Amino acid sequence: MKISRILSLCAVLLMLLETQGCGSAPEPAMLNAGIQKTYADVIIGFAQLGAESEWRAANTQSIKETAELLEIELRFMDAQQKQEKQIEAVRKLIIQKVDVIGLSPIVETGWDEVFQEAKDAGIPIILVDRRAAVAEDMYVAYLGSDFLEEGRNAARVMAQLMNGQAKIVELVGTINSAPANDRYEGFREVLKDYPGMEIIASESGDFTRARGKEVMETFLNEHGSTITAVYAHNDDMALGAITAIEEHGLKPGVDIKIVSVDAARVAFEAMIAGKLNATIECNPLLGPQFFELALKVINGESVPKWVPSEESIFFPDNAAEILPTRKY
Ligand code: AHR
Repeated sequence: MKISRILSLCAVLLMLLETQGCGSAPEPAMLNAGIQKTYADVIIGFAQLGAESEWRAANTQSIKETAELLEIELRFMDAQQKQEKQIEAVRKLIIQKVDVIGLSPIVETGWDEVFQEAKDAGIPIILVDRRAAVAEDMYVAYLGSDFLEEGRNAARVMAQLMNGQAKIVELVGTINSAPANDRYEGFREVLKDYPGMEIIASESGDFTRARGKEVMETFLNEHGSTITAVYAHNDDMALGAITAIEEHGLKPGVDIKIVSVDAARVAFEAMIAGKLNATIECNPLLGPQFFELALKVINGESVPKWVPSEESIFFPDNAAEILPTRKY
C-alpha cells in the first residue's frame, strides 16, 4: 500500500475515533450543534415557593398555562411556604432528571448544598422571581424584578403623596426573602432625603392578607392616629391593613395613606374605592420568558445573567380605565 493511502486511512480513522468520543470532551454547545431541541423534547421542573398572595397565584398560573400552550412536560412542585419542602422539591426534580429547574426561592440564604447537587447532576437552575444568595456560577440566569427599585419608587411616591411629612408604619414581606430585603432597603435609601418622613414601626406580615391585618391591628393599638401612612411590601398585606384601619374607625386612603407593591387587580379595585393611594408594579407573568430562557439554555445558547421585568406605577386617577386591561 502506498504511503499516501496509509496516511489518508489514518486521518479517517482519527476522525472516526473523535466522533465516537475518543478525542477531547466536546463542549455542551458543540454537542447540541445541529440537534436543536424543541419544547416537545424537554422536561422542565419548577419548584414554586407556595401560594401566599394574589401575585403568586398569577405567577403559578402563568407558568402552568404557558407550559400547556407550548405543550411542554412540566413537573410543578409547591413548597407551601417552607424552605425544607422547596429544597426537597429541587432534590426530587434532580432525581427525575429534568432538563432545567426553575426556582423561586422563598428566602435568600441556605441554598448552597442543593444548588451544588443540581450542578453535579448537570441540571441548570434558572431563578424565577426571587434571587438566592449563591455564587453566580451556581445558576444560569435570574428572571425577575428589580426589588430595590420598587422600594425606592414606593418611597418617592409616598414622599410626594405626604408632602415630605409622614409617620409611616411598614408591613414587611417574608423575612429574609429577596423582595422583602430589597424593598426594605430601597425605601430607606430614598427616605434619607426626606427628614420629615419617619418610619415609626416595621414588622413582617409575611406577604399575606391575614398577617397584614394582624400586624396593622397591633400598629394601630400601639400608635393609633399618630400613623399617617402605610408602606406595604405587597398588595395583599395592604388589603389586610385596609380592613384593620376600617375596623379601627379610620378611613384608609384618606386618614391614613397607603402605598403598596404588585399592582394586582385587587389593588386597582381598592384604588377605585379610594382606599389605596398607589401601587408599584411587580410583574408575575413570567411563564413565557421562563420557558424561552430554559430552551435556550438546553440548546447551549448564551443567556443574560439577569432578565429584568418591565414595570410601572399606578395611581387611583386612571385605575378604573386600566383595571379591565390587567391580567392579574
Ligand atoms: O416575590 C414577589 C413577591 O412575592 C410579591 O410581591 C408578593 O406579593 C409575593 O408574595
